[in-house]
This record gives sequence, C-alpha cells and structure tokens, in this order.
Amino acid sequence: MEDKNFYITTPIYYVNGDPHMGHVYTTIASDVLARFKRLDGYNVHFLTGTDEHGLKVYQAARDKDMTAQELTDQCSQKFRDLGKMFNFSNDDFIRTTEDRHKKGAQALWKKLEEAGDIYLDKYAGWYAVRDEAYYNEDELYEDEQGVKRACPTGAEVKWVEEESYFFKLSEWQDRLLEFYEKNPDFIQPQSRKNEILSFVKSGLKDLSISRTTFDWGIHVPGHESHVMYVWIDALTNYITALGYPDEKAPLFEKFWPADIHMVGKEITRFHCVYWPAFLMSAGVQPPKKVFANGWMTVEGEKMSKSVGNVITPETLIERYGLDGSRFVLLRIAPFGNDCDFSHEHAVNMINSDLANGLGNLAQRTLSMIVKNCDGIVSARNALTSEDKDLLDEAYQMLEGVRVEFDAVRLHKGFEVIWKVVSAANGYIDAQAPWTLKKTDPERMGVVLSVLAEVIRCLGLIIQPIMPDSSEKLLDQLEIPQNERNFMHLSPEYALKAGTTISQPQGVFPRIVEEDAA
Ligand code: MSP
Repeated sequence: MEDKNFYITTPIYYVNGDPHMGHVYTTIASDVLARFKRLDGYNVHFLTGTDEHGLKVYQAARDKDMTAQELTDQCSQKFRDLGKMFNFSNDDFIRTTEDRHKKGAQALWKKLEEAGDIYLDKYAGWYAVRDEAYYNEDELYEDEQGVKRACPTGAEVKWVEEESYFFKLSEWQDRLLEFYEKNPDFIQPQSRKNEILSFVKSGLKDLSISRTTFDWGIHVPGHESHVMYVWIDALTNYITALGYPDEKAPLFEKFWPADIHMVGKEITRFHCVYWPAFLMSAGVQPPKKVFANGWMTVEGEKMSKSVGNVITPETLIERYGLDGSRFVLLRIAPFGNDCDFSHEHAVNMINSDLANGLGNLAQRTLSMIVKNCDGIVSARNALTSEDKDLLDEAYQMLEGVRVEFDAVRLHKGFEVIWKVVSAANGYIDAQAPWTLKKTDPERMGVVLSVLAEVIRCLGLIIQPIMPDSSEKLLDQLEIPQNERNFMHLSPEYALKAGTTISQPQGVFPRIVEEDAA
C-alpha cells in the first residue's frame, strides 16, 4: 500500500516577546490535526519554530539592552518550553538562526536570481516594523494623533528609502491567478480567498526583498551589505526544515509539498501570494493548502498589555487544566472565524461538554460496572435496535470527524463527537440500567457493556484533542497500548466480555467558579 504522508506547519513565531494565548491557539489546532492524522495511519511531519531575524526582533533586543542573539536564544527557548507545557507533538522545531536554515534560504535566493526574478534598485515607501511589511499609500490611514498607520492591522508605518533588491512579483500575477484557479482549495477559508484574489487582481508591485540599514538577518549571497527581508527568510523555513536545498533529502521527498500551512489571518498575503511566487520561481512546488485561523480577542477586546487582558499560557493551564485548555480554545467558535474568549464561556463549555457530558457518561457507566457487575464487562448478547443504533453511531463517528478535520472544520468535527456523547447520555437515561438492576440484571449488563464500548470509541477519537484525559479513560477500560489507533475504532476490536474495570477516577472535573476566579 502507498505510504500516506502528511506535513503540517505552524507560523514560526517572532521572538520579540513572550508567547501568549494567540500563539497557543494556532499551534493547538495544528497539533490536533497532526495527532489525528498519525492515529489515522499517516506518516506525519509537524513543524513549528521561531522567526528570529528582522528589524522587529533587533529593536526588541536593543530596547531590552540585550544582543539580538541573546534575546532570540532566550525567547526561542520559551516557545520550546510552551510546547512541552501544552503537550505539542511537533516533530521538529526550527530556528531561523540555525545554519541549516541560513544555507537553505541563501540557496533559494540564488534560484530566484538565476531565474531572472531579482534586480537591484532603490526602495522608497512605507514600512511597518510591527508587521515587518511594506504597504502602499492606498492602504494607509492617519489616526487621531496624525500617526500614519497601515490598515487593517493598525501598525505604525515609517517612510523608508534605501538600496534594495527586488523580486519581480509584478510578473507573477497571471501565474498566481492561474495557480489559484487550478487549486481551488489552496486558500481557506473562503473569506480569506476572496481577499487574496482581489489583492492579486488589483495588480502586484515588485517586492523589496533586502535591507541595508541593519544587519540582523541572513546575508544576501554575493552582496554582503544586504540582509534578506525577514519574510523571504522566514517563509523558507518550511522547506529548509526538510533539508532544502537538497531536494533529494528524505524528508523533502517524503513531505513536500506541505499539506497545510496553518497561519493567522493577518499573514495570508505572505503565504498565499509571496510564498507560492517565490517557490514557483525557484522551480519548487507550492504547498497544497494555507488555512487562516481567525483572531482571538478576550472579553471583546484585543489582547494587549495596556488593557491588561493578556491571558498567558500558564494562566490558561492553571484555570482549565491542560486538556481543558486545548478543548476550550478549539470549541469556542467555528474554526477560521474570529472568536472571543471569555472565562464564563470557557467554564460553561468545560462543565457542560466535558464534566456533565462526556465525564458523567464515563463515570456513571464505569462505576455501575464496578458496583453491579463486579467490575466485569458483560457479553453483548441479544442486542436491541437501540443498542445497535448507538454502536453504529459510535463506529461511524470516525468517518464524520475525518471529513470535517480534512476540511479543517475542527468545530464540526467536535460536533460529530459530541452528538455521540449526547446519544449515549440519552440512551443511558432511556435504558435506565439502575432500574434494570432489580428487574433484569442480565439486560443491565448488556446496556452497560454497550455503553462501555461506546466510551472506548469516544476515548479513542478524543485522543488528538485531549491526549492526557483520553489516556486515562482508555487505561480505565484496559485498552492495550497497541490498540489505540483509529483502525481500532471498529467492532473487530470491540471491548471484550470479561474485561475487568477497576474503580474509575473522574477524568473531567467540574470547575467550581470560586476556584477558577
Ligand atoms: N513570524 C511571523 C510568521 C512567519 S511564518 C513564516 C509572525 N509571527 S508572530 O509571532 O507575530 O505570530 C503570528 C501568529 O500567531 C499569527 O499568524 C497567528 O497564527 C498567531 N496569533 C497571534 N495572536 C493571535 C490572536 N490574538 N488570535 C489568533 N491567532 C494569533 O507573524
């Protein structure tokens, strides 16, 4: 059988400040997809890392009285630590200050030069350090204090004039439009696609791709007074991490083109316009898909230090636990849309979906098996249509989630799973095994056994979302480690009669408001 490969990446994060909830949001979504694909039989390569060059990082270091290298070393480590804290399953972590990356970025530059797509000129225009982006005059507005800002990001822009190398982006307009047409799923969701299409259709200007006024960057090969524009450097991480420029490198052969670049919506232009143009110019295939997640605000406001509403990754974990945080961030809104995080909403979701929904289902079922069946799972004999319907729903769940996750509709995937949780809770209430205990103990054993099998299926399918809790649940059901892939989500591997269950521990605790405040 042909190997199934899946390559997913997060943006590489700037090291000018500490990681926050927004960074965690994109990486959790990517982690869930990476874990899902692994369990679904794919060879997965999941990449994240840090973007360490450019003026923004250089200035942040200067403001902190540190060298750029000291700041990047310190801050990159914080992003790595964050990965451990949130149980991210990335296979690699790239830093753009590593030699493997510098070598690859310079090689890409040379390819663009050989293709005749680079020329030297003078740049005179607007630049926003915060976005590390060039803006056209028609993209700007003045705030109340008369400061020129870029719309829609609101970053302050400054006039820049310097010698610069340019990439002939203007010549790529038709080829890009043709590429989008042939690859209709390249940009997702649709709203972002519309923005990109109208941006490209309105005409592309050549892009300044080097700077001379500071030198915290990768030197332009053969022109040492220039450093590469941080975005050409940064985007290249997706291929240098696979061994580029060696296109025969095992990882490159296996995983390029990437299946998904997961990014925040504010950086789609870089990923959907510049990146495919650079790659096509260098004779490398563009990625298959760029998915842009929406922006997260907190209690209706943009997260900012001055408002004092920044939620640190540590606070999230303290309040909601590791798996609770992972769950809440992805369940909060349709994935791809902007979303607003509120403590109240988070507590509600944890209490209703996790503690009352899945947690209560598992706890009720497993403790009844312990109490009333000596902890032994009964044979599932003489199944009724209700039993069969519930089991069928549990076995069909995988296909439903697969379809939704493949389309990066994470919230819809969650709905498929929680539909089964509700069906199982409805079933337990309708069958009332606590009554059957007196009237028909044999039937009670069957009902509890059906439920235990459904819980096994649920425990398997939630692994990508909540790796720790699912492990506890599957351990309680004595599911062997080598029977925890999605191929085991079928009747063939059903929980065997005679399996012994020990006294269950609640896996999804309720949050009591006073504790969390
Ligand atoms: N270094 C560039 C990316 C280069 S990729 C080749 C960059 N870095 S960043 O540190 O600013 O991280 C931006 C990313 O963090 C966003 O694209 C998004 O994925 C995530 N988010 C940061 N804040 C966010 C929110 N408030 N809400 C949702 N995601 C946000 O841009």
